[in-house]
Amino acid sequence: MIQAVIFDLDGVLVTTDDSHYEAWKRMADEEGICFNRQINQRLRGVSRMESLEIILERANKSYTEDEKNALAARKNSYYVALIQHLTPSALLPGALETVNALRKQGIKIAIGSSSKNAPTILRQVGIADLFDAVADGNQIKHSKPAPDVFLLAAELLRIPPANCLVVEDADAGVESGLNAGMKVLAVGAASYNQKAHLRADALTDIDLMAWIRTQA
Ligand code: BG6
Ligand code: MG
Repeated sequence: MIQAVIFDLDGVLVTTDDSHYEAWKRMADEEGICFNRQINQRLRGVSRMESLEIILERANKSYTEDEKNALAARKNSYYVALIQHLTPSALLPGALETVNALRKQGIKIAIGSSSKNAPTILRQVGIADLFDAVADGNQIKHSKPAPDVFLLAAELLRIPPANCLVVEDADAGVESGLNAGMKVLAVGAASYNQKAHLRADALTDIDLMAWIRTQA
């Protein structure tokens, strides 16, 4: 029986996945490193430093640890500038409706995001107070596909992992939810992922509450 739903943030509830791409693209262009939307698929759900390592696979020089830290900081400064003007219009279709429908039925809801910027984004788009728990990149050591962030969210909610449903737009996030022993709904960019228990192009295409009832 599903007692809690844990949402990824970027690309599931808000459009910030695109801002991550734009910020990395600017940094990669400045460094003369080939980067495009196809490579970006591998960055979804993955931590900042691991994302950088993936981008640097195409670099034709090697970077020291200090240089890598500077590149990641530069990308983050571009990203922070992009998200500082976020408003509720950045919420993806169906996000607010889904969250509110679950809350109304007494389902616990949480955020499970790899991003260290998650608290800022939640505040900016005005949904910070809707969640019973927030687990994000500031609190975990191992990023998705490790199960850490979702296990932490379940622990904060005090709900057993087997009774949680994860909503993800990243293959790494689908893997993370499965590794945590949770049910997984894959949406958006991950909607073709056959490992997930459930798939939908967008949150508007699925009645989560109806599906949860079938699991009882
Ligand atoms: C995830 C995004 O939510 O957060 C990744 O899907 C991103 O693209 C990761 O790299 C880390 O984000 P941040 O904000 O800590 O750099
Ligand atoms: Mg995501």
